[in-house]
Amino acid sequence: MLRTHTNGELRLADVGKLVTLTGWVQKNRKMGGMTFIDLRDRYGVTQLVFNQEINPELCEKANRLGREFVLQITGKVAERSNKNRNISTGEIEIIVSVLKVLNEAQTPPFTIEDETDGGDDIRMQYRYLDLRRNCVRKNLELRHKMAFETRRYLDQQGFLEVETPVLIKSTPEGARDFVVPSRMNQGQFYALPQSPQTFKQLLMVSGFDRYFQIVKCFRDEDLRADRQPEFTQIDCEMSFIEQEDILQMFEGMSKHLFKAIKGVELSDFPRITFADAMKFYGNDKPDTRFEMKFVELMDTLKGYGFSVFDEAEYIGGICAKGAAAYTRKQIDALTDFIKRPQIGAKGLVYARVEADGNVKSSVDKFYSQEILQKLKEKMNAENGDLILIISGEKTSKAQKQLSELRLEMGNQLGLRSKNVFSCLWVVDFPLLEWDDETQRFYAMHHPFTSPKPEDIALLDTNPAAVRANAYDMVINGVEVGGGSIRIHNSGLQKKMFEILGFTPEDAEYKFGFLMNAFKYGAPPHGGLAYGLDRLVSLFAGLDSIRDCIAFPKNNQGRDVMIDAPSLIDNVQLEELALSVKK
Ligand code: AMO
Repeated sequence: MLRTHTNGELRLADVGKLVTLTGWVQKNRKMGGMTFIDLRDRYGVTQLVFNQEINPELCEKANRLGREFVLQITGKVAERSNKNRNISTGEIEIIVSVLKVLNEAQTPPFTIEDETDGGDDIRMQYRYLDLRRNCVRKNLELRHKMAFETRRYLDQQGFLEVETPVLIKSTPEGARDFVVPSRMNQGQFYALPQSPQTFKQLLMVSGFDRYFQIVKCFRDEDLRADRQPEFTQIDCEMSFIEQEDILQMFEGMSKHLFKAIKGVELSDFPRITFADAMKFYGNDKPDTRFEMKFVELMDTLKGYGFSVFDEAEYIGGICAKGAAAYTRKQIDALTDFIKRPQIGAKGLVYARVEADGNVKSSVDKFYSQEILQKLKEKMNAENGDLILIISGEKTSKAQKQLSELRLEMGNQLGLRSKNVFSCLWVVDFPLLEWDDETQRFYAMHHPFTSPKPEDIALLDTNPAAVRANAYDMVINGVEVGGGSIRIHNSGLQKKMFEILGFTPEDAEYKFGFLMNAFKYGAPPHGGLAYGLDRLVSLFAGLDSIRDCIAFPKNNQGRDVMIDAPSLIDNVQLEELALSVKK
């Protein structure tokens, strides 16, 4: 070893010891006849001292060291007169007697400090320097711990980690595939897995009983703060179970992670049906850190001559506690917020419940005080509350808009603390989703999800009404995981493909291997996958999952550090029988 200790290790008890340390120069400051260097490594920072009077030559050498030089030093641990209580080694310093420069460094393009002067682009380009920063590295340490605790829990529960292939056949799960051309089978392509879904089901047919894998998944979809084209799942599957067993097992895993990592004891997760999630929150991943549930107001507000409401298919309100003092300007800003094209609401109606109990609304000329009092009652509003109302010609659209408004009010009223964790299961998702554009049904979760047995008859008569044995785990409005009980009967799976618009040939071509496997004794099975990146960023209180990924892609799906994707040369293209660029 080139060192005897790390830079996070030495304490007052070590005073007098002769130690050798290695690391990077974080800071170099000259104060009178003394030079102080902060030496950094993964474990912390230790102060080095050089004294001009005692050892002028060594001190001169120290003065010439630039930021990020790599050093090895030997010296004596001494008590510091000027203690720094903010760092673990702040009570000691090293009186250096030997200084060796292991490597020089160019001045980095941004400061390697928690509060850096580097913008996003430059930090991504030099991600290996960004990763030297304490605050970034901490996220990866957390990620490691979470993956470790996940393995511990699943191992204890009898799960086996099995690796599944990365070069596979396209198995659509809602996003586009990344494809890889095959040189040996020209004109044919592998796809990178959107998830190991079909493989884990095949492992159940093989009798593995309990499988998991911490695995990279690939989806060619538009990026958002909580989406990367390659991301990591904690992918799990179990045999001979029912939905309840899965919910218990993975609620247990989440509780274990919160306890082991954050010391937080979670109570049992409430469960809410998809239908209720939409009705009360307009969202299939409701943020339940705060109430502010939707109240449907069709009966209360329709039929009084206000044409916007009279023509609406949906009128819904939320009650913002104590927000009656919102100024006209603040309400205008909220109106602008929901009118933005991304949200697309036409307008916002408000009603203030004043200190004397009177209700003053933006549509007073259509509604008497008597009706407004009814509104107040229906909304369960108290004096000092602000009622916000959105209506729309289409229920689902209006509910979505009201959901955005609810979340924004949650932000504005400080109800979405990152230190509070509100977990729940959303259950009973619809099996299918109708798409107007392509005029066909899509699987809401994926094509292998089992309908609820009691709804199977509806598959022929009213497919849109069929509910699935599918569930999502939601924490603070983030879908951290999702899964389902699977179809394990080749006949039912065939029928499902039919409903999804696959011709029998198409289904056979794409999924013949699975339907065939089901003919050889497939056990009842089901599972779930967590998004590890989302879970870590939630634990770390991050706004984007990018910050807990060592080498993430930017919003255009590029890795700007290695400059990928990039062109490949003509020889490679020819080998793959892909058209050659002139
Ligand atoms: P699903 O598609 O719901 O289910 O994915 C499971 C979880 O993975 C995370 N996730 C993502 N995280 C980051 N970037 C992305 N682009 C991204 N897409 C998804 C989410 C999500 O809840 N095979 C099924 C699981 C199963 O049925 O067992 C599946 O992949 O947190």
